[in-house]
Amino acid sequence: MKPTAYDSTDLITQEVLKRYESTPDPRLREIMLSLIRHLHAFAKDVKLTSPEWLAAMQLLEETGTWCAPGRNEFIIFSDALGLSMLTVTQDYQRPEGATEPTLLGPFLVEGAPKFEMGQDISRGAQGVPLYSHGRVVDGQGQPVKGAVIDVWHSDDRGIYDVQDHFETNGAWARGQLNTGEDGRFSFWSVMPVDYPIPQDGTAIRMIHATTGESWRPAHLHFRIVAPNLRPLVTHLFDRQSERLDRDAVFGVRPSLVADFVRHAGGAAPDGRNMDGPYCTLEHTFVMAPA
Ligand SMILES: [Fe+2]
Repeated sequence: MKPTAYDSTDLITQEVLKRYESTPDPRLREIMLSLIRHLHAFAKDVKLTSPEWLAAMQLLEETGTWCAPGRNEFIIFSDALGLSMLTVTQDYQRPEGATEPTLLGPFLVEGAPKFEMGQDISRGAQGVPLYSHGRVVDGQGQPVKGAVIDVWHSDDRGIYDVQDHFETNGAWARGQLNTGEDGRFSFWSVMPVDYPIPQDGTAIRMIHATTGESWRPAHLHFRIVAPNLRPLVTHLFDRQSERLDRDAVFGVRPSLVADFVRHAGGAAPDGRNMDGPYCTLEHTFVMAPA
């Protein structure tokens, strides 16, 4: 068989599509054919040059070198381009009243240290003490016992444990908890602060060359998993952040803005006596059915 004489870009697209039409899995076939159509249309639309193509390939290569458990640089690109929130929004069928999901972010670590109810997950992280407590319920308001809650957040420098000699220092401001019989959870940690997306990777170079918007408003990350319920990945944002309308990754939803209540000192909700300033956060998470 003679090779195709490519005298137009359209012929290239047609030949590639024809080959991928043999993809056995129907969903993968649908995704691949659409990807090829859009990718080729994009390259034609901007009249992509060979040096630009090579720069993109080199950027992807370097992006891979920034990835490790707890740091996925590709997710930062996805987040900053709005792809993560678009996917969460169209994929998560949420009944009325269920807690809104938001993006996962790049810093989840599987197998985080486990803590008992009310323990301090900060493990030496710097910041104003924060007592978080609340409940996990289902759509009927019934408590969800034994739900597994992963929590992770920044310290008062605006960085995560995975950005600070994680291999030697280990996890801090990160932990896994279980809800009790009554669906309740509680833990101590420290207040998160606003932070910019990592300054040392490749995604920040795109931000600097384009929008210049690299900051995220202060938040806690939560992932909640329980039998027969849809896993929930979300954040709670500090209402006092001045950057709620300028999240670099488009993750803020009004229902996820919470009151991190400031206190001068005194008795915390769990009876602990606080000599200095501390904060409290109370929240109920409503899980959607699986
Ligand atoms: Fe975060």
